[in-house]
Amino acid sequence: MTTQDTRSAKLTIEDKTYEFPILSGTAGPDVIDIRRLYSDAGVFTFDPGYTSTGSCASSITYIDGDKGELMYRGYPIEQLAEKSHFLEVCYLLLYGELPKAAELEDFEHRVTSHTMLHDQMNWFFRGFRRDAHPMAVVCGLTGAMAAFYHDSTDINDPWQREVATIRLIAKMPTIVAHAYKYSIGQPFIYPRNELDYASNFLSMCFAVPTEDYRVDPILSRAIDRIFTLHADHEQNASTSTVRLASSSGANPFACIGAGVACLWGPAHGGANEACLLMLREIGTKDRIPEFIQRAKDKDDPFRLMGFGHRVYKNFDPRAKVMKQSADEVLGLLGIEDNPTLQVAKELERIALEDEYFIEKKLYPNVDFYSGIILEAIGFPTSMFTPIFALARTVGWISQWKEMLEDPNLRIARPRQLYTGATRRDYVDIENR
Ligand code: ACO
Repeated sequence: MTTQDTRSAKLTIEDKTYEFPILSGTAGPDVIDIRRLYSDAGVFTFDPGYTSTGSCASSITYIDGDKGELMYRGYPIEQLAEKSHFLEVCYLLLYGELPKAAELEDFEHRVTSHTMLHDQMNWFFRGFRRDAHPMAVVCGLTGAMAAFYHDSTDINDPWQREVATIRLIAKMPTIVAHAYKYSIGQPFIYPRNELDYASNFLSMCFAVPTEDYRVDPILSRAIDRIFTLHADHEQNASTSTVRLASSSGANPFACIGAGVACLWGPAHGGANEACLLMLREIGTKDRIPEFIQRAKDKDDPFRLMGFGHRVYKNFDPRAKVMKQSADEVLGLLGIEDNPTLQVAKELERIALEDEYFIEKKLYPNVDFYSGIILEAIGFPTSMFTPIFALARTVGWISQWKEMLEDPNLRIARPRQLYTGATRRDYVDIENR
């Protein structure tokens, strides 16, 4: 819900003053509605990294970066991570309320009955090199869904939008698991619909046709919690990419494929892989000061991976749950003395006492501990970001759905501050 304030913001340029409405949401900072700025004053705003720009109104996820709070539809992430499970969270993000028992059963059934891929998609994997990064494969396969599911690409048809939504949530685990199997040269394992969402994913990743595979409930719970913690995070880079792509009317599979591509970057979803590689490179506690020093050195491009966040200027609440989960999982697996976990904990302790990190409000983010859990479950580092993509798919679709249902939808078209050559005449090649 957006309400217009009685206050307004005034902007004076030379001798003219322009007035803009102030809008309030249900929580968070107010915004100045500058939609009429260009038509009234003939100027644009300039905010390249969107540090002060609200790109949309949304009622899905709320973050208070100073307090370190994250809520999906008003429910704190800590409560959802402890009491709920991923498919229930999917329902909440998509439809706005926690489901009643029958609604959840119906939703789970709909997701479960769409887990298998069009068989020709299984052949499509074989076009990739075996040593391709699974994220490259997932990116390609997600976009390729548009070529296999024509009957759910019409964004103006609410029924097709719903079918695409369910297909994406149901099939992403299959795509990600198949990308993994392909990379290690093992046969694809078909989804098993009697398993819950997380267990089915583990089964598709770790079962082999020659043996029975029993999903460990500890690992299944741990991966389900990782899915929940990554499900949505308001207008981050990949979500904004999905919104930008969808604003042109592109089909949902192309838009989610764009989100996957954006997530891959090491400053975003690729940080979990980069973080574990960094922890391994540090190797032992005595090498930590050297890396802290490098992170603080302006002339060294090295950054402490899994630290810092554009919005959180306090603990990332997901990192707290993740740390607790890492302790639990490694404890239950009897590997609590895992050297990577020990290095991570010591690195966190030292960084949090260091003046540089305190002053810049750099705290561990969600990626700092997630890789340790995923490694303990048995995933190679290259699978960390694809798993993040799988979990974030529901967030991307919820935001996509919300955007398409908004009557104010317009193509997203940022403006620029032009700094190039002004008009000049073409010079023939012999005269250059
Ligand atoms: N290590 C060392 N210094 C850092 C770090 C870090 N991890 N993060 C930020 N800083 C410093 C910057 O050098 C900068 O210093 P300066 O003001 O002296 O120039 C200051 O803190 C602010 O950093 P910015 O890059 O301006 O902050 P921004 O909000 O643009 O970046 C980001 C946020 C990209 C997450 C950054 O903190 C980072 O690169 N972290 C490491 C990568 C990472 O963990 N990404 C995962 C994010 S969570 C997610 O996507 C799921």
